[in-house]
Amino acid sequence: QPLVGLVGWRGMVGSVLMDRMQAEGDFGLIEPVFFSTSNAGGKAPAMAKNETALKDANDIEALKKCDIVITCQGGDYTSEVFPKLRAAGWNGHWIDAASTLRMQDGAIIVLDPVNLPVIENALAKGGKNWIGGNCTVSCMLMGVGALYKAGLVEWMTSMTYQAASGGGAQHMRELLTQFGTLNAEVRALLDDPKSAILEIDRKVLHKQQTLSAAETANFGAPLGGSLIPWIDKDLGDGMSKEEWKGGAETNKILGQGPGFSTAATPVDGFCVRIGAMRCHSQALTFKLKKDVPVADIEAMIAADNPWAKVVPNTREATLKDLTPVAVTGTMDIPVGRIRKLAMGPEYVGAFTIGDQLLWGAAEPLRRMLRILLE
Ligand code: HSE
Repeated sequence: QPLVGLVGWRGMVGSVLMDRMQAEGDFGLIEPVFFSTSNAGGKAPAMAKNETALKDANDIEALKKCDIVITCQGGDYTSEVFPKLRAAGWNGHWIDAASTLRMQDGAIIVLDPVNLPVIENALAKGGKNWIGGNCTVSCMLMGVGALYKAGLVEWMTSMTYQAASGGGAQHMRELLTQFGTLNAEVRALLDDPKSAILEIDRKVLHKQQTLSAAETANFGAPLGGSLIPWIDKDLGDGMSKEEWKGGAETNKILGQGPGFSTAATPVDGFCVRIGAMRCHSQALTFKLKKDVPVADIEAMIAADNPWAKVVPNTREATLKDLTPVAVTGTMDIPVGRIRKLAMGPEYVGAFTIGDQLLWGAAEPLRRMLRILLE
């Protein structure tokens, strides 16, 4: 069985990946080697077979023995270890959740239900570097990739509603702590049905505006009861890095734009952090190349892959099936609110949601492992 090195398996994305690999029986097909950056020599988890002690994740010689390495350890680890490992002559497959290598030549962004032909083409040419996409982009393409595959999209804007988990585990804790602090501030007033709502509002606002630096350390601004219309770095040209990824990665996944023979499709919009836990939501506007009936659009989306689910564009169905709470922990990518917009028959709106840790991070990695094992 191929030796598969696992790095960063204890973190949030890594833990979701381990759960999915167990659920799908992936460990039956591999000889796992568990690495650690902090606890080399410690006991490997129960899925270990022959290698029951944790190896040092910075030990290039140990990594070199692996046929495949999967890492969820993060970008700093990738920047540090990947060049050394390749320079040492390692020719194995590197599967990575971090964004570090995504846009490099010779790295493929993996999302096989959307871009299996791109993956297969790279494999045939000896490709070895397989990188998971930005979570928002992967969830979006799992939902509406059908319209791109059909060549229907002239351009798309995506206005995102991104969950705390996209920042990391500490961000989720910070959000919940803020909610708790705000609730505690007005609990007595809430318990009194005769209290004045404007007094509650004033007290909450004061608390939000005076949260300590420690209470906003991760997001940099209050998020509980508010939102933050900036995600990731400031690229200095008015764009956030998350917004740049939306266009750059969507096109690279689809095998179009720089380095490919097909022109890029313009994809742009604003990325916004909201107080959801782990589902990223997006309001999409498409300009299609032609007038396509809504029923046909729905049929294409529903038929594209087993996970995209069309939610009827009614209030009842939306409240039941098109919320982060309904989607969290499931592999479903619901696409709802599909309707023609007032600007003209080629303009179509849709709303889609995905679990940011499943299709947004872990699932494309384990599916790439399966492709390599075939
Ligand atoms: N950059 C994403 C976010 C996380 O902050 O929500 C995963 O790509």
